[in-house]
Amino acid sequence: MKESPNKIAVAPMMDWTDRHCRFFLRLLSPGAMLYTEMVTAAAIVHGDADRFLRYNAEEHPIALQLGGSEPEWMAQATAMAAKFGYDEININVGCPSDRVQSGQFGACLMARPDIVADCFQAMQSETDIPITVKSRIGIDDRDDEEFLRTFVTTLVDAGCKKFIVHARIAILEGLSPKENRTVPPLDYERVYRLKRDFPELEIVINGGLTQIGHVDAALQQVDGAMIGRQAYHQPYFLAELERHFDAAKGVPSREDVVEQMLPYIDRQLANGVPLNSISRHMLGLFAGQPGARAWRRYISEHAHREGAGSEILVNALNAMPAVA
Ligand SMILES: Cc1cc2nc3c(=O)[nH]c(=O)nc-3n(C[C@H](O)[C@H](O)[C@H](O)COP(=O)(O)O)c2cc1C
Repeated sequence: MKESPNKIAVAPMMDWTDRHCRFFLRLLSPGAMLYTEMVTAAAIVHGDADRFLRYNAEEHPIALQLGGSEPEWMAQATAMAAKFGYDEININVGCPSDRVQSGQFGACLMARPDIVADCFQAMQSETDIPITVKSRIGIDDRDDEEFLRTFVTTLVDAGCKKFIVHARIAILEGLSPKENRTVPPLDYERVYRLKRDFPELEIVINGGLTQIGHVDAALQQVDGAMIGRQAYHQPYFLAELERHFDAAKGVPSREDVVEQMLPYIDRQLANGVPLNSISRHMLGLFAGQPGARAWRRYISEHAHREGAGSEILVNALNAMPAVA
């Protein structure tokens, strides 16, 4: 019996996994947990909460990722998010960017598990929705097993049951966020050992899972696999995973997915959303297939133009050379 695709999650990715992207990815993966981009608690509490929290009903199961370190704000943002019906709320303890460090949240908080635990408890007291944590395996010179253990134990004592672990450390100074996703080496074994040490926890592994074989290997050891860049750059990978886990289940073709996006696009355009805000997430749909370049190029050249509508996607399909 192969593992269920519900053990798959799509990673939170700023500027990428917005509601349009998630609607699109859901067509490729009926079961994966989809994470929002990180939203700061302050933005929700003091800003336009509806703008940050709304999503399409089709996106379930969906997790909101929150950034922050102020328990009261994290709790208030959680209470507001709970009303929107999210399936999980996740605390960002993995993002290394400067902006995030200055606000005292993200990966630097791995050194302050007490603060994360206070946030966790304040948040969980507002709702029954599971509150989870996404972290790295370490930060800077704290690249040791004990550091990760102390972090996890403090959160477990506060009641946390699910951890998503990006299997590399974050270097808080000297590397850009992008470099922090490639330069520190992946260490899956450390995440696997974490699961063995805390078998009662739900452990989801993240980082560099770009092939079905990687996901299979990971699911032998831990409870779930979170996929980031591969799901964005080659979204059909999610459909291939679905097919791999359940060969009997039909998955839509790439063309079916385009077809299914058209009414969604029409509805969004009627609400004033520009086509490009949606179509930009679909550029990788044909990645690796004949015609992928023509698809990308047609959309890139036409979707931003004034008055561009869903017909651009149909034209883009037609612009692809016919495959014999
Ligand atoms: C464009 C981009 C934006 C990201 N934004 C976030 C974020 O908001 N919150 C977060 O926890 N991780 C963020 N990440 C990190 C991913 O969630 C993930 O941990 C990382 O990309 C490693 O997984 P992958 O190798 O499967 O891509 C981002 C990654 C990318 C590429």
